Amino acid sequence: MSLYFSEEHSAETVNARMGADVDPRLKTVMAALVRHLHAFVKEVHLTQAEWEVAIDFLTKTGQICSGERQEYILLSDTLGVSMLVDAINHRRPPGATENTVFGPFHVAGAPERAMGDCISLDGKGERCLFEGRVIDLHGEPIQGARIDVWSDNSEGFYDVQQPGVQPKWNNRGIFTTGADGGYRFIGIKPVSYPIPDDGPVGQMLGHLGRHPFRPAHMHFLVTAPGFQKLVTHTFVGDDKYIGSDTVFGVKQTLVAPFEHVRDGDIVWRSPFDFVLTPAAA
Ligand code: BEZ
Ligand code: FE
Repeated sequence: MSLYFSEEHSAETVNARMGADVDPRLKTVMAALVRHLHAFVKEVHLTQAEWEVAIDFLTKTGQICSGERQEYILLSDTLGVSMLVDAINHRRPPGATENTVFGPFHVAGAPERAMGDCISLDGKGERCLFEGRVIDLHGEPIQGARIDVWSDNSEGFYDVQQPGVQPKWNNRGIFTTGADGGYRFIGIKPVSYPIPDDGPVGQMLGHLGRHPFRPAHMHFLVTAPGFQKLVTHTFVGDDKYIGSDTVFGVKQTLVAPFEHVRDGDIVWRSPFDFVLTPAAA
């Protein structure tokens, strides 16, 4: 093969430049990336103008990133890449609770709360009792599981999106299971909301005729010694966006019941058990 670049052997020429001592995994990943990228450019016959649009898009995507804003993750999420990486890395046995996207709104160090506590601090929204058990694949309760929960408020914003407007730690908390594996807390029935769409990713969605909404969901991060970390949500099944989540996070098994109840100021009850997978599985 010639040392010089040609359309026909473009990817091979680039990959042949790699040194002899390159880390084997890096070599595999980069060679495949170059092969697929070149095949893509050839398949669509990318024009010079389109190449410039792509460079401009990626530049703007980087420029809008900050400590609080990660536009590349939004790009990965909206192209289904985040869910694909999650899927191939978290294949679980039948019966185990499935993972879904982590999202950008988790904050480490939320207050530890007692079972039954209310996490909604702004007094808005319809109160909902979330309860269930953390169990293993045999249905045995898991003691000492930490359940870190977070959701938007009734106006569709996380507390971190509205500092000074919402109370700090609004709709967040950490609960630790006892011997029965049970958990129980009061939050609100979450509502659907748009992902941040005032940047390049929002523009891309607009050009593609896509909306930026996520169906209503409650986030759960469940950890217990000896078990795989579970990053998941429960979804409100009758949400308008349940079939068109802009980040593809919905899985059938994660659609939870939201039962209408009347118990003081509690209007909804959402029962859901989390089934953890052993670390070794
Ligand atoms: C979220 O559910 O918080 C989320 C996930 C992905 C992108 C934006 C938000
Ligand atoms: Fe969310």
